[in-house]
Amino acid sequence: MNRSLRRHSRDWEDLGDLDPCWAILAYPERRFGRWDHDELFRSGEAEIARLMVDIQRLGYPVRRERALDFGCGVGRLTRALAPHFRHCHGVDVSAPMIVAAGKLNAEFSNCQFVLNGHPDLRIFPDGHFDLIYSVLVLQHLPTRAAIAAYVADFARVLAPGGLLVCQIPSHIPLRRRLQPRRRLYGILRSLGVGPRVLYHRLGLFPMRMTSLPEQNVHALLTAAGARVLEARADAMASTAIDSRTYYVTKPEGPAGQREPA
Ligand SMILES: C[S@@+](CC[C@H](N)C(=O)[O-])C[C@H]1O[C@@H](n2cnc3c(N)ncnc32)[C@H](O)[C@@H]1O
Repeated sequence: MNRSLRRHSRDWEDLGDLDPCWAILAYPERRFGRWDHDELFRSGEAEIARLMVDIQRLGYPVRRERALDFGCGVGRLTRALAPHFRHCHGVDVSAPMIVAAGKLNAEFSNCQFVLNGHPDLRIFPDGHFDLIYSVLVLQHLPTRAAIAAYVADFARVLAPGGLLVCQIPSHIPLRRRLQPRRRLYGILRSLGVGPRVLYHRLGLFPMRMTSLPEQNVHALLTAAGARVLEARADAMASTAIDSRTYYVTKPEGPAGQREPA
């Protein structure tokens, strides 16, 4: 693991310890442990219900064996995928998130939560997942290159006829890029100040925002043999961050053959 990914994992381990539910859905009024689990999980069910409408409309994925929720946090979305896919895998870089996901979703026997500290998805074989879903995750990676590496690997582990849905900011205005609370958190943390003091007393937290322009995403998915079906402006637009959700498939067999009817 390189230095920047190590620091990034430590940040998410801290967040997973400090306030896991707020860290995955950072509504200001829910900070400091104020999320009600049922309410949090209902938000995941509503989001996956909208995804299932898109799946119906797009005609992908053609099979519903295996789903990957990349950056699963406490499993808000993994558990909501459970009624729709035979096996659901939540993957996260943060050990406390994976532990919380296992505890909070113990009754979902077809959900499995896996820690992955690699800068890619090497733990999974090619063409493994019919659905890959990832929202509010890639935007927090430390560099554009890190986002690009995961997106290219999404295309590798996506099954032919599968559907990849991933959200990535395409542009972040300068004032949102400065992130003084995150920078100060990093400096004080490396000087030995504990995460609890930084978060609870000083109001600092280590969440960063990174973007990847839309044309870069198209180029790298096309180079990886995938096909972008749609790139839609998403709800992040209301935060002054220009963001896209990409709906992507991978052709079955030789180009263009065995596409769904
Ligand atoms: C804002 S939360 C969103 C969680 C979930 N997608 C949801 O919407 O409920 C971001 C999650 O991504 C995870 N994450 C960040 N970087 C990651 C990486 N490189 N690989 C896997 N998970 C990562 C964090 O630990 C955190 O749980």
